[in-house]
Amino acid sequence: MKIRTLDIKGLTFLAPLAGITNLPFRQLVKECGCAVVCSEMISAKGIFYNSEKTLTLLRSQPEERPLSVQIFGSEPASMARAAAFIDKSGTADILDINFGCSVKKVVKQCSGVALMKDLGLATDILKAVRGATSLPFTIKIRTGWDRSGDQAMALAQTAQKIGVDAIAMHPRTATQGFRGTADWSQIKRLKTAVDIPVIGNGDINSPEDAAQMLDQTGCDAVMVGRAAMANPFILSQIESFLDNGRYHPPAPAEIFKKMERLTTLYVDYFGEETACKMLRGRLSWFVKGLPGASGFRRQLSQLEGQKQAIEMIRSYEAGLGDDAKATVN
Ligand SMILES: Cc1cc2nc3c(=O)[nH]c(=O)nc-3n(C[C@H](O)[C@H](O)[C@H](O)COP(=O)(O)O)c2cc1C
Repeated sequence: MKIRTLDIKGLTFLAPLAGITNLPFRQLVKECGCAVVCSEMISAKGIFYNSEKTLTLLRSQPEERPLSVQIFGSEPASMARAAAFIDKSGTADILDINFGCSVKKVVKQCSGVALMKDLGLATDILKAVRGATSLPFTIKIRTGWDRSGDQAMALAQTAQKIGVDAIAMHPRTATQGFRGTADWSQIKRLKTAVDIPVIGNGDINSPEDAAQMLDQTGCDAVMVGRAAMANPFILSQIESFLDNGRYHPPAPAEIFKKMERLTTLYVDYFGEETACKMLRGRLSWFVKGLPGASGFRRQLSQLEGQKQAIEMIRSYEAGLGDDAKATVN
């Protein structure tokens, strides 16, 4: 798959997830085998005003490339300035605009999915950003405010005309939030409405789901969000399944190794105190389905130090019976 000048080796994208797809998490997912990782959504205004907190979100490491950096906002000028800044910084391989966030605070500012019902403003933003960067340029959209999907098709065709290079679609409506199911038929419709690559997203929970989405919709690649939070191996499992029809679910030993790795990456990036607070939740996602997971989660709720985290992980692993250790998750 090619997005403008960027050759992508593989078919999997890690979805942008605010509060989750920070640099250390992206590094972990990349190490697990994912073609393209995406940043959290980053405020264009924050970049425009040089907000230190916002600029931190732009930090990147060479090992995670190719990296897609997503911005959100509602002012063409600040969006263009942010795009030019990101282009110049050399940290991104793809620049993405968020047309899908349905969080009240974002919608109120006429950003995210709110732009899908204002094609005029969306057009101005797309033109301004396309004029400000030669980076491969993508957008991430929903179905729109209503179920018909007409807003998505209109925005997609406009975007293609302006020079957007690929479109990711999460086919739920704005009002739906995350309820109900993703309507993959809208991805199929989008694929026939535009010639640029389409990345399908929504409710992929297994390699089989990914294969089904590709098959049903004809999309060019798949994007996985929530399923990767608990199982970062899912992206390499998808790559393997699409390549040769097989995939290998991680053995508990691999999961524990990744938990230790995430601990190290988080502590290095956030510092021990903040990292440990965040890891209380993050590490608990990884042990879903393993025997004794609830006891481990209770212990994690008291987590305060890196050494303690490693000891907790190792002692949990050592306490698992041989049967459980051999069990695939
Ligand atoms: C916690 C969380 C944070 C999210 N943050 C973003 C974001 O920053 N930008 C964006 O475009 N979508 C965001 N999304 C939407 C996801 O990228 C994705 O479209 C959605 O979760 C559907 O895919 P999935 O079923 O694979 O999770 C977020 C979703 C969740 C659950």
